[in-house]
Amino acid sequence: MLKRITIQDLRLGMYIQELCGSWMEHPFWRARFLLTQQNDLKTLLASGIQEVWIDTGKGLDVEQGATARTDEEVDQETEYLLREADKPLSTATTSMADEVRHAMQLCNTAKQSVVDMFSTARMGKAIEVGQALNLVEDIANSASRHPHALISLARLKNVDEYTYMHSVAVCGLMIALARQLNMSEEQVREAGLAGLLHDIGKIAISNQILNKPGKLTDTEFAVMKTHPERGLRILQKSDSVSPAVLDVCLHHHEKIDGTGYPHGLQGDGISILARMGAVSDVYDAITSDRPYKKGWLPAEAIRKMAEWSKGHFDDTVFQAFVKTVGIYPIGSLVRLTSGRLGVVIEQNPDSLLMPRVKVFFSTKSRVQIAPEVVDLARQQEEKIEGRESADTWGFRHLEHLWIDQ
Ligand code: C2E
Ligand code: SIN
Ligand code: SIN
Ligand code: FE
Repeated sequence: MLKRITIQDLRLGMYIQELCGSWMEHPFWRARFLLTQQNDLKTLLASGIQEVWIDTGKGLDVEQGATARTDEEVDQETEYLLREADKPLSTATTSMADEVRHAMQLCNTAKQSVVDMFSTARMGKAIEVGQALNLVEDIANSASRHPHALISLARLKNVDEYTYMHSVAVCGLMIALARQLNMSEEQVREAGLAGLLHDIGKIAISNQILNKPGKLTDTEFAVMKTHPERGLRILQKSDSVSPAVLDVCLHHHEKIDGTGYPHGLQGDGISILARMGAVSDVYDAITSDRPYKKGWLPAEAIRKMAEWSKGHFDDTVFQAFVKTVGIYPIGSLVRLTSGRLGVVIEQNPDSLLMPRVKVFFSTKSRVQIAPEVVDLARQQEEKIEGRESADTWGFRHLEHLWIDQ
């Protein structure tokens, strides 16, 4: 039987089914396990987690007199907290389906704006910052209506439009991340502009290198690594690009452990916006098909980034990023306990582990089944058992499952 208990009642010998609350505040990536180590118990007590679900069928129950709370009590408290919160947990004011329609049009106009901006720069002229800011404004507004619509769509791009759509995608990710980090709306705009312009130096790299289908030679990569400095020079031609935005352009390939380029900066030596740029840049890069590599699905990407995270990314920024897009972002392919495969179509603001999933395939009978939406937050039988790769199953176009909701 599953029971939700407060952390003070947790004892060695209990079987932990799930850690409640803010997933990223705890150091355990895999939540389900039998608690046998004093050290693990200590870490959990110190983690800031208030409650856990235990399975009393697989481990010890709470002692008599302990304060296990009923679901109803917990639900009431949650509802109370949500009502009292200054900032609603979910910032969506529009349904995903409605905002997807807006965001599709916005992606088209945004791409054209970026093409224009980059060709202006290619001719050696200063880019028009006003035009870029208008675009940032539209993207920021779309993200206010629904934080996931534009960033999910901007992930879907053709190889030949990668450089342009990557700018749009990183702009959207930076805006959502800045809001997650409680930055002011002015800083949110600055983060968005930085995302839009961070890779503008790529226009100075020859197409032979930029669009090379295979791995770069050392010499080619050395040329590639000049794009941040070239970008800086391009942006310096405009008077109105702020130092913070110039800094993201120059330092989005720095890594926390000092192994990045061009300056090998470390830790706090890298500005907060540049640390946000690094995470947003890598996420959109590895979830996109590029001339040299096929993209991963979002949940696979989050997992890889978590593996690389030490050394490459700022912990706090990476955690905020995962809270922004989800552990299983929209578009992720997941396997449920029933053996059904589905695609994540919406986050649950209360739990990153219980999104809404549209199931469409049975791994038991190995056939497609009629698509059905399963809201993991609203039932007990189904849980996510793991991520799947679309390639392994030979699925090609999973997007329509979350685009046509
Ligand atoms: P990009 O394709 O936009 O990738 C941006 C950053 O995402 C990369 O910066 C890297 O930090 C991360 N990233 C992308 N793919 C992977 C991956 O498979 N594994 C890991 N661990 N990280 C990945 P980086 O490496 O400094 O590269 C900068 C740019 O250089 C890339 O931008 C791309 O335009 C180019 N590039 C890098 N490697 C290759 C390559 O093998 N072939 C080609 N044609 N271009 C490459
Ligand atoms: C993870 O990224 O490994 C944590 C979530 C899970 O796999 O259940
Ligand atoms: C579907 O059609 O439901 C997705 C499967 C695929 O992309 O082949
Ligand atoms: Fe770059």
